[in-house]
Formats: sequence, structure tokens, C-alpha cells
Amino acid sequence: MIDYFLHTPDNNPAPDTTTHILNRHNAGQFHRSLPGYRPTPCINLPGLAEKYGTGHIFLKDESKRFHLEAFKALGASYAVHSILKQCNNIDTFCTATDGNHGRALAWASARAGKKSVVFVPHHTAPARIRAIEQEGGKAIKIEGNYDEACDLAAEACRKDGWQLVQDAARDGYEEIPALIMAGYLTQFRELEPELHPPGKPDVDIAFLQAGVGSFAASAIWYYLDRYGPNRPKIILVEPFEADGVLASFRAGERVVPDKSFKTMMAGLNCGIPSPGAWNIIRSGTDAVVSISDHFAAEAMQALYHPAGTDQPVTAGESGAAGLAGFMAVMEEEKLKPVRELLRLSPESRVLFVNTEGATDPDNFRSITSKTTPPLRHNQ
Ligand SMILES: Cc1ncc(COP(=O)(O)O)c(C=O)c1O
Repeated sequence: MIDYFLHTPDNNPAPDTTTHILNRHNAGQFHRSLPGYRPTPCINLPGLAEKYGTGHIFLKDESKRFHLEAFKALGASYAVHSILKQCNNIDTFCTATDGNHGRALAWASARAGKKSVVFVPHHTAPARIRAIEQEGGKAIKIEGNYDEACDLAAEACRKDGWQLVQDAARDGYEEIPALIMAGYLTQFRELEPELHPPGKPDVDIAFLQAGVGSFAASAIWYYLDRYGPNRPKIILVEPFEADGVLASFRAGERVVPDKSFKTMMAGLNCGIPSPGAWNIIRSGTDAVVSISDHFAAEAMQALYHPAGTDQPVTAGESGAAGLAGFMAVMEEEKLKPVRELLRLSPESRVLFVNTEGATDPDNFRSITSKTTPPLRHNQ
């Protein structure tokens, strides 16, 4: 199943708490001070680029972010650092997560000598829960989905006096999600020596996966702030069964999509977009595509069993989703309008972010061990 929405953005997000914080915070110095910090690699995939008739495909590989296998460490660590700078009198940090953000918060809390409690939805893979516990977090699995886990975490913080560090904003709770987004910016600033020079980016199109939208919005804000109208085309990718951003574009306001929330792309399995993210997303997105899980599986296979001499990349379900969206756009007749929007040429430079590694190793193995990947190409 696939869907899409084309949008004409104004490239000018209305000022709000989120844009105010993004304007004023640069987390780079803090991240560079962390033990084990180094910029994650940006991998050139010429074999894949040739297959799709484009000039370059670049993959920023966040699976190599510290030992935490996802970009989320940048956001949680910067939020915890900023909160503790204002008030050190905090005993316990708390959040809801589909895995990566909770693992990152548990790590950041333990580094600061604090406790952490992490609410996870009912479908969370055991390996992802173990990873939170290995970082010292107390994981609490609930009956409900991600949005319900967010409600429970907020409620527990009110009741027990814990500090909520959530990556999705809600009314009256905008600053901390914005600090998390400010932390995410480091991954795009790291690309400045290679792909993001002053004036014009060496990237024409960026495919960005969206859950609550904070990751994509941080990228869009970065591009708008640095390049204005010279920013790359931005295509967002969501699971078909949890396409809250696409549904919100269609409705003209933030809505919960009327879908099953059954998808293996756990990091993207969210309902309503975060308000702080939505304000930026609607100002700087050219198209949204939503895809079913088999596209994510194909992209995981394509990265792990690469074309030509490309180096193999370990990408989890949500990590591979940006590339999966691109593959769907290139292969599926229904997505022709998005394909036309891309105007892909042998000169085009396309950027993806592998936002996570094999954070559910059992599922990763079962997908990538298939010897005949069901890859379908239109050329
Ligand atoms: C691996 C991965 N990729 C992408 C995302 C999407 O980020 P956001 O929820 O900010 O849209 C997440 C969120 O958990 C994630 O874990």
C-alpha cells in the first residue's frame, strides 16, 4: 500500500517556541565534549545511484552514533544537559518511546548520575526493551500504542515529580522537544565539510523519515536557515499504516491518521505529529509518501546486499525507510507525480539518513538473510 501528497511550501515557518530555541541553540560543542563522540560517516553509494539513474546517493549513517545505533542520542543528551544546567535538583527523567529515544534518554540520564523511567508501547521488540535496561533505564511496557505511552509518561511525571523528556511537543510542553530537535541538528552540521557548504548545498533532494516529525523538522529547519530557497527538495516518508503527517497535510491541520498502526517501522509508528515539528514541516516539505512494510524490507536488503562495489550498510526498519520511500517513488506508477517532482537526472544528488542500525536483530536477520531479495526495479 502506498499513498502520497504534494505540497507547495512557503519556506517560512511562523516564529514559535520551537523556532526560537532552534535559532539560539548550537549543541555541537556539547556533543564534541562527549566521550566517544565522532561525526557519523557519510557513505557514497555509486552502485545504487547508477541503478536508479541518478548522479550520487549519499547515506548519513546514524547507526554509528556512539554505541546507541541511532541519531536519537544527539537529542536526549542535549536536552538532559540543558535541563540540568538550569536545575540540577532532578532525580528521575522519564519518557515514552518506541525504542531509540528511550535508550538514548536512559544513557544520557545514567551519564548524569540520574535515574530514568521509560514507557514503551505493547508491540515493542524485546531487544529494544533490553537495550533500554542495559543503559540503566526502567522500562515499563503498557497495553496501548505510542500515543498512549506518551500520555502515561506525562501523567506519571505529574504524579511522581519526574522530569519528562519527550521528543513530541504538546500544549504547554514545547521547550524540551525543541531542545531535543536542537540536538538533532548536529547530524546536519556534521555534513558541512562534505555536502553542506555555504551558499548552496551539494544535495538536491533529501528523503527524510517521519514519526512525530521532530527529526524531519530539524532537517528542514537546518536547510531553511542555511539555504533559504536554495534548500534541497524535501520528501518525507512514513509507514502507510501510521501516516500522521500525510493525513495532517490532507486535513490541513494536525490529525491522528485513521490507520491500524501495524508496521514494523517502529520508530515511525506514531499518530499525531508534534505541533513544534508540524509548524516547520508544513513550511518546508515538497511531498510526503507513505509506504507499506515490504518497501522497508527491500531497502534493508538493498543496503545490506549492495549493488556493485557499494559498501554494505546495516539499516533497521525505520533507518531504511527514507531509501524505501525513494525506491517506491522510482518503481510505483501511483507515485509518478512525486517522481516528476524529483526531476531526477544523472547530475542529481540524493541524501538519505540511516537513522538506526539493527535495533531489532531478530527481525533484521530474518529480513536480510533472504537470499533472493524481492527487489523490483523499473529499469
Ligand atoms: C530510527 C528512527 N528513525 C526516525 C525516527 C523519526 O523521528 P521523529 O519521531 O522525530 O519523526 C525515529 C523516532 O523514534 C526513529 O527511532
